[in-house]
Amino acid sequence: MSESTIESILHENRLFQPSAEFSQQAAVKSLTEYEQIYGQAKADPEKFWADLATTELHWFQTWDAVLNWQPPNVQWFVNGKINISYNCLDRHLTTARRNKAALIWEGEPGDSRTLTYAQLHREVCQFANALKQLGVKKGDIVGIYMPMIPEAAIAMLACARIGAPHTVVFGGFSAEALRDRLVDGNAKLVITADGGWRKDAIVPLKEQVDKALANGQVPSVENVLVVRRTAQAMTLTEGRDHWWHDLQKTVSAHCPAEPLDSEDMLFILYTSGSTGKPKGVVHTTGGYNLYTHVTTKWIFDLRETDVYWCTADVGWITGHSYIVYGPLSNGATTVMYEGAPRASNLGCFWDVIEKHGVNVFYTAPTAIRAFIKMGEEIPNARDLSSLRLLGTVGEPINPEAWMWYNRVIGGDRCPIVDTWWQTETGGIMITPLPGAIATKPGSATRPFPGIFAEVVDLNGNSVPANEGGYLAITHPWPGMMRTVYGDPDRFRRTYWEHIPPRDGNYLYFAGDGARQDEDGYFWVMGRVDDVISVSGHRLGTMEIESALVSHPAVAEAAVVGKPDELKGEEVVAFVTLEGTYSGSDALIKDLKSHVVKEIGALARPGEIRFSDALPKTDRGKLCVGCCDR
Ligand code: WT7
Repeated sequence: MSESTIESILHENRLFQPSAEFSQQAAVKSLTEYEQIYGQAKADPEKFWADLATTELHWFQTWDAVLNWQPPNVQWFVNGKINISYNCLDRHLTTARRNKAALIWEGEPGDSRTLTYAQLHREVCQFANALKQLGVKKGDIVGIYMPMIPEAAIAMLACARIGAPHTVVFGGFSAEALRDRLVDGNAKLVITADGGWRKDAIVPLKEQVDKALANGQVPSVENVLVVRRTAQAMTLTEGRDHWWHDLQKTVSAHCPAEPLDSEDMLFILYTSGSTGKPKGVVHTTGGYNLYTHVTTKWIFDLRETDVYWCTADVGWITGHSYIVYGPLSNGATTVMYEGAPRASNLGCFWDVIEKHGVNVFYTAPTAIRAFIKMGEEIPNARDLSSLRLLGTVGEPINPEAWMWYNRVIGGDRCPIVDTWWQTETGGIMITPLPGAIATKPGSATRPFPGIFAEVVDLNGNSVPANEGGYLAITHPWPGMMRTVYGDPDRFRRTYWEHIPPRDGNYLYFAGDGARQDEDGYFWVMGRVDDVISVSGHRLGTMEIESALVSHPAVAEAAVVGKPDELKGEEVVAFVTLEGTYSGSDALIKDLKSHVVKEIGALARPGEIRFSDALPKTDRGKLCVGCCDR
C-alpha cells in the first residue's frame, strides 16, 4: 500500500448509513440487532453456532459435541454426519428452487449456459460416478486445474459428494507450480480441460498438466479427466487420460451423497506464506459448510430472486466460498464469468451485470482501480440499476476507489461490504452487515457475529484505540483451517506461536497489521510478514526468490513488494549474478520469463535490478528494507 493510501486511511472518517429502505428489507436490520446477535454469540458461542447449524443445514446425523478445542487442533460438530454437496444441491430439489437457475455461466467468447438446480445436481452425480469409475475413493485427493467453466464447480461438488478432497490449482499457475502442489497433495487424479480462455488468448491447460506429470514427476496421479472447452490440439495419453464427454455416456446420474464426518477433509488449497513453499490449507466439511452458508446469507443479504456475482476465480478461496459453496448452500443464483476486462472489451463486467440483472456484485479493489483508469463513461453507458449491494475483498481499499465504486457503480444507493478474511479463515471475518453497520471508506468495520477479533501487541495485550498492532482472533470459529497439509508443526508455528497464549487461551495470528478506531471499527493495513499482494494475488517473496535462484545466472536474490497504484504492490527483485554472467536487458527478460515458468504470470517481476552485493544481517540473512541495516 502506498504512503498516500495509508495517510488517507488514517484520516478517513466519513460515515455512510444504509438507506432506510435497504435496512428494512435486510437480514439484519439495525445496529441494535447486530449488537444483540453479536452479544448472544459472545455469551455462548457454541449455542450460537449449534442453533445455526440446526436451522440452516441438513445433517444425516447430529453431533455429540459442538466444539472440541485442543489448541491448535479443533473439531466442530464432533461425530456429526453431513455432505456439503447435499446441502448445495439435493435439499433444494424438493422445493420451488428445483428449476431455479443455480449457475449462470458467461463464457468467452460469447458462450453462455444456465444450469438449474436439478440440472446441476444431475451433472454432479454423473461426474461423481465417473470419478468412482476411475477408482477414486473417499479420502483420495483430486487435483482440479480448470478454466472458469461450469465443470470446475461441478468437479468440486462431485468430489465433495463422494468425500474425495479436492485441491484446486489456479489455471494461471505454471506447470511447475501445478506439479509441486500435486506432489505435496499426493493427488490421485487430475481434472482439467483442453484449454481455457484468459483474456483474448487460449491457455493450453492440458499441455501444462502433461508437463507437470512428465517423466513420472507425480507418481501418485493415475488418471486425467479432460473437459473439452477450446477444442485445440492436444494428445491424450492412452490408459491415463480420458475425455469427460466419453465417460459421461457410460455413467448413471444416480449417486447419493455420502454421509461424511463433519471433520472429513473437504479440500486443500495452497497459499503463500512468508517462508518456504506454499502451504496446503486444510478445510473440513461441517464447519466450513456452516460458516460459508451463514456469512453468505447475512453479508450478501441474499433474497430468493437475486442474481449474485462474485468475480473471483475458483482457483482462490473466494471462488470456493463465495462462487460455489456459500451461494449454492443458500439456494442462490450464482454467476460464473470466464472473461476478464481487457483492452478489447473494457466494459465486459458491466455487460454481464446488465445482461443478467445482477443484484449483488463482489470484486477486488485492484479491479476497481483499473476501472477508474478506464474512465467512468464505460460503466455509465450500461444499465447498472439492478445492483443493490456491492462488495470488495482481497486487499485494503483506498478511500478514493471506495468513493468511486460507491458513486459510479453503486449509484450512491448500494451499501459496500469491505470484507476482510483469508484462505485460512474459510470465510469472511470482519465486514459490515449491510443493513446494520454504517460504513467508512477503507474500513472492513466490525467482526461477524461469533468472531472475536482484537488488535494486540506481540505479548497478546490489547492495544489502545487508534494504535497499530497485530490482528488476532481470540476464539475458534467453524470455518477456520484445521492444519497445514502434511505439516502440523508449520500450522502451529505460523498461526499460534507468534503471540503467547493469554490465560491459557490461544490467539490466532492473522499476519496482518491493523488498528481499531474509537468506534471499534477495524482498519486492516496489510501484511506484517514477507507476503505481498499483487493485484490481490498473494505471493511469498521467498517463493519468488527461490524461483530466481534456480536460474543458472543468479547467485542470490531478494524480492520486495513496491507500492503500485493499480496492482497494490509490484514485484521488485534485486539479484547478484554468478561470476561468469553480467547484467543485461536480455538477462532481465530471461529472468522474468523464468519466474513465470516457475510460478506463473502473476509472479512476473515488474523490475529486476542487478547488484554487486545484497545487504545482510549480522547472521548473514538477506535483508532488504526489513530492518535498519
Ligand atoms: C490476505 C489474505 C480472502 C479472500 C482473498 C484473499 C488481505 C483480504 C482484505 C480486506 C484489507 C485484506 C490481507 C489478508 N485482505 N481482504 N478487505 N482489507 N486486506 O485471500 O489470498 O488468503 O489473502 O489478503 O492481507 O491477510 P488470501
